[in-house]
Amino acid sequence: MVQIENKTKENDTEKILALTLKLPLFVLQFEQNKFMLRSINKSASKHIIRGEDYMNLKPIGYVHSPYKERKDAPSQGRNRDDKFQIEILEEFKDGLKGIEKRSHLIVLYWLDKSKRDILQTTTPHDKNEVKGIFNTRSPARPNPIAFNIVDLDKVEGSILHVRGMDALDGSTVVDIKPYAKEIDCVE
Ligand SMILES: C[S@@+](CC[C@H](N)C(=O)[O-])C[C@H]1O[C@@H](n2cnc3c(N)ncnc32)[C@H](O)[C@@H]1O
Repeated sequence: MVQIENKTKENDTEKILALTLKLPLFVLQFEQNKFMLRSINKSASKHIIRGEDYMNLKPIGYVHSPYKERKDAPSQGRNRDDKFQIEILEEFKDGLKGIEKRSHLIVLYWLDKSKRDILQTTTPHDKNEVKGIFNTRSPARPNPIAFNIVDLDKVEGSILHVRGMDALDGSTVVDIKPYAKEIDCVE
C-alpha cells in the first residue's frame, strides 16, 4: 500500500510518503530537503510525524586536537594532559555566558569516522569477551556520540581551552554541559 500525505504547517510543508509492505513498515520521509527511510513497527507508527527539529543535531563547534589520526588518540582522554581548543560557532556564542566560572565540563562530540552498524565488539581491555555495544565505550555505535569530562583551563571569546578529551582533530561538538560532582559522580 502506498500512502501519500501532505501536511501543511504554519511555515512549512511536510510531505510524507509511507510505503507499507506488510511488516516491517518502511516510511520514506521528506523533511528539510532530505529523504529519510525509516523502518518502524506498528506500535511506533503513531509517532512518525514529528516536528521539523526532531533528532536534528546542529554542530555547536569543532575540536582542535593534537590527535590527527586514530592511532594517536587514547581510548579515554580523561587522565591525559594534552591540550584542546573547542571553537564554538558564532551563532551559539551567547550560550557560553558564565561558563568561565566552571572548572569541569561534560563535552559530547560526534564520532564522525565511526561505523554505525556494529552491535557487539571486544574492548582493548578485554579481548576475550564479546560485549554488546551499549555495554562498552566503543566509538562504533548506532549513534556515535562520545562523552568526555574535561578540565576547563580558560575561555577566550568563543574558544574553550580544555584538557581530557580523546577526540580527533576536527571532531564536531554537539553539546556542552557543566560537570557537577553532586549529580555526576557516583560514590
Ligand atoms: C573509545 S572512544 C571513547 C570516547 C568517549 N571518551 C566516550 O567514552 O564516550 C575514543 C576513541 O574514539 C576515536 N575517535 C576520536 N574522535 C573520533 C572521530 N571523530 N571519529 C571516529 N573515531 C574517533 C579515537 O580513536 C579514540 O581513541
